[in-house]
Formats: sequence, C-alpha cells, structure tokens
Amino acid sequence: MNNIRAAITAVGHYVPEKVLTNHDLEKLVETNDEWIRTRTGISERRIMENGATSDMAVPAVQMVLKNRGITADEIDVIIFATVTPDMFFPATACVLQEKIGANKAWGFDISAACSGFVYALSVGSQLVETGAYKKVIVVGADKMSAILDYTDRNTCILFGDGAGAVLLEPSSDESLGVIDHKLYSDGTGGDFLYMKGGGSLNPPSHQTVEDKLHYIYQDGKSVFKVAVVGMADVSEEILKRNNLTGADVDWLVPHQANLRIIDATANRMGLDKSKVMINISKYGNTTAATIPLCLSEWWHAGKVKKGQNLILASFGAGYTWGAVYVKWAY
Ligand code: UT7
Repeated sequence: MNNIRAAITAVGHYVPEKVLTNHDLEKLVETNDEWIRTRTGISERRIMENGATSDMAVPAVQMVLKNRGITADEIDVIIFATVTPDMFFPATACVLQEKIGANKAWGFDISAACSGFVYALSVGSQLVETGAYKKVIVVGADKMSAILDYTDRNTCILFGDGAGAVLLEPSSDESLGVIDHKLYSDGTGGDFLYMKGGGSLNPPSHQTVEDKLHYIYQDGKSVFKVAVVGMADVSEEILKRNNLTGADVDWLVPHQANLRIIDATANRMGLDKSKVMINISKYGNTTAATIPLCLSEWWHAGKVKKGQNLILASFGAGYTWGAVYVKWAY
C-alpha cells in the first residue's frame, strides 16, 4: 500500500469577453430579466464568438502553469471534461495537448455534462494516488453557445461559455489534498436532458437539423426536482462519511445551474451563504467549467487558504452527480 495523496497545486480559468445580458435575451425570446434572475440567479453570461472549446482551455491551462511555475512539457496527463468537444474525435484533450505543447502528455475526454469536472477530478486524483503520474491537468470547459437554440427560452437563458483547470500533484503533506469522492449515475435521467443529434443514433442529416436535434433539450422542471435532492443528498453524504458537519466546511463549491438548487444544498449542509462560492449571476451555467471557474476566481481573490475544507458538488445530465472533499493544499 502506498500512501500518496493527490493535491490541487494550481488553478486557472478563462471566460470570453463578450457578455450576453438578460436584456439582450429579451430581444431574442419571450423572456424578461426579472424572470431569469428570480428563477435562476443569472444576470449575464459569456459567449465565445470565435474559436472552439479548446481555445478557452488553452489560456485556463496556461494560467495554471504560470501559477505553478512549470512548463507544458512537464505535464503527464490531460483529462478534459466537456460536452462540447471541438469535434467528436480526436479528443479535445489531444487538441489541447498540441496547442499548449504538452508533448510528453497523454490524455482523454470525459463526458459527464455538469458533473464532468468532479468525475475528472476523481479519476485524475486516482492516477496520482497510484504513483503512476505526477502532474495531471484536469480541465472543465464548455462552449455551450455552440449547442443552444437561441429561439428556445427554456434553455438559451441558462447557459454560457467558459473554462477552468487545475493541476493535480502528489501532496507533500499527506493530510492535505483530495480526501474523498462519491459519484453517481442514473441513465433514466437521459429522457430529461439531452442532445440527440449527430451521434450514431441520429447521424447528421437535413432532418436532424430541421428537427433541431443538434441543440440541448431540457425538461427543466423534472431536472430541477431531482437536482435539488441529488446535490444536497451527496453533499450531506460526503460530510457524514468524513465525520464533518457544516461547521467544519470553509467553502461549498457547487455546480452553478440554478441559485435555488445551490441555496437548497447549502441549507441542507447548514451552511451560511458566505461560505458558498457563487458566480452564476455573471456566467450562468458553463457546464463542466462552473466548479474550476469558481475555484480559480476565489483562489486568485485570496479567499482560499491552505488547510481549508472544501466540498465540491454537482448534478447534471445523465443523470450524473457527485461530491468531492478537498483539503486545500496551498
Ligand atoms: O446543469 C444541469 C442540470 N440542470 C439543472 O439543474 C436545471 C434545473 N432546472 C431549472 O433550473 C429550472 O427548472 C428552470 C430555471 C429551467 C425553469 O424554472 P422553473 O421554475 O422550473 O420554471 P418552469 O419551467 O416551471 O416554468 C414556469 C413558467 C412557465 O409558464 P406557465 O406554464 O407557468 O405559464 C414557463 O412557460 O415560466 C415560463 N418560462 C419562462 N418565462 C419567461 C419558462 N422559461 C421562461 C423564460 N422567461 N425564459
């Protein structure tokens, strides 16, 4: 038995400059700023006008490397969580590897929608814990604007574009790092949140375009009901199995899908709102990017300190959900 623990040792993020406000959306669909803010907590989101998902990941990872003072050729593995890969294949991890010059790394993509980052973090930390790899980059990035129907008010108001990344390394202090993770899937959720076109089930055709199968579909109400319970349940579970109470938690880092889901999770954990990372108002739901985007913004603002207890929690398409307990290492 080895006792290597994986720790997050650097964070980075990127959001495109273009801002799409609720008022801008009022001109595209029958909606209004007040409805969007009160039902979701979102005021604006970012839109990537030129370029693909990997182009947002490049500056996010470069920020990570700069933070840590290392070069891209020191990276061993790249795990890229996204549902908006640049293309079906090659993997966006490979595209990114070439763009940043990580010429010694191998990598792969993870498709777990809004839970992509917690899934990838869990896999990445286990690659470090085995002793096989010393520098694993975990990226969560999505260009949601590429798969949104800007005539569908049920979805286009919710999502935005962004990227976040972290570096995992063996922890120099075994008590710090990624302490625990608990992940779930439930394929029955596939009926409520999906994009059905383009794959082997519905290969692209004029018909799939006409039927709008290349866009996200979400039955918001059904997803809301399970998300609000699922995210709170798994957060409570991870506290219990690590003998923690809300009082021990310094930061809840929730997936940013809806402020009401975030509030319900914080309430169940007995957490004051001041201990919850929330930036949904500025970025909307950036799918795999929400959690690393929060981590990086809060760390760069000097608010995340060595030794603090962080609970990362998410719920998304699949269904997929999970939580990770991190004791911050730097
Ligand atoms: O991240 C992946 C996981 N996803 C989630 O966690 C999202 C979960 N779902 C949600 O966050 C919420 O269900 C939404 C924000 C998507 C919708 O909120 P809701 O409170 O569930 O609203 P609703 O869909 O029940 O719609 C309520 C009303 C409806 O009108 P009627 O039927 O009451 O007359 C909708 O037609 O609001 C209407 N509506 C809108 N009105 C203005 C729906 N979308 C809009 C809109 N602007 N954009």
